Amino acid sequence: MKGLTTLGQLGVPEIRRLIDLTLSYKQDIETGNGVERLLQHRVVANAFFEPSTRTLLSFELAAKRLSGHVITFHPEISSSLKGESLQDTMRTITAIGADILVVRHAENGFPDLVQEWTAVPVINGGDGSNEHPTQGLLDAATLTARFSDLTGLKMGVVGDVGHSRVAGSLVQVMPTLGVDVTFIGPESLLPESPIGGVEVTCDLDAILPELDVIYLLRVQRERGALVGDDYETRYRLDGKRASRMKPEAVIMHPGPLNRGVEIAPDVADGPRSLILDQVRHGVPTRMAVLAEISRTLQ
Ligand code: CP
Repeated sequence: MKGLTTLGQLGVPEIRRLIDLTLSYKQDIETGNGVERLLQHRVVANAFFEPSTRTLLSFELAAKRLSGHVITFHPEISSSLKGESLQDTMRTITAIGADILVVRHAENGFPDLVQEWTAVPVINGGDGSNEHPTQGLLDAATLTARFSDLTGLKMGVVGDVGHSRVAGSLVQVMPTLGVDVTFIGPESLLPESPIGGVEVTCDLDAILPELDVIYLLRVQRERGALVGDDYETRYRLDGKRASRMKPEAVIMHPGPLNRGVEIAPDVADGPRSLILDQVRHGVPTRMAVLAEISRTLQ
């Protein structure tokens, strides 16, 4: 694998291999097993132009668990403030010694641009409202750990789908693994154009009892999302709504949560919630991606 800018570049066997590797690394971490030093003498550079807790820290720890060095670019104290272009910035980070670049940026398609500018593999840590490939993979690994076979599961992705790069990656990976995906939310937050194979509805309460996975999304006000006063009444997953879910159904959220908006605190922390389990799959997923890319480094 030469970089990872979209899950659309991966076929089913590659996705399954990454999930298997993720679950194996997760077990290694939990049991204290050593892992191959695949990134020894290699440098992973994180260049995040948007805020992150989970993705940034887990790429750092993933690289370190594979014995790599990590350097972190901080845009707010960088020479970008002195007028350096993004292209010069990326080439500079590579010239300093990065072997792999992990980038997050508000502009859709930014990782592909960086891949044109530099020869080193680029990993998309989230681009605008487009994609978040490692989130999609860690979600697939989390569900595989829970259900083994995902074929026939029904997933409802609820909330601000139109601004969500997570939804952009879920729709690439989940149908590939046999999961039926439905986007759910007010019309103003659903994608403008239909996405192949994905159903769309505004009526969460009608579809809720059919779902195996309720995947909640934050309303991204920073990307211009506007919601009516009735948003929480119609879409927040509170205890009353959760009681109408199938007994074995699970709740997911990529984080960060806005507790009390899209999800009630007791539901977020309740027994059906996989939210912290998703976070726990973040490091081994990013290890798996870095490991696959490391095999292509010269
Ligand atoms: N899910 C996710 O991308 O979280 P961060 O923004 O904290 O990285």
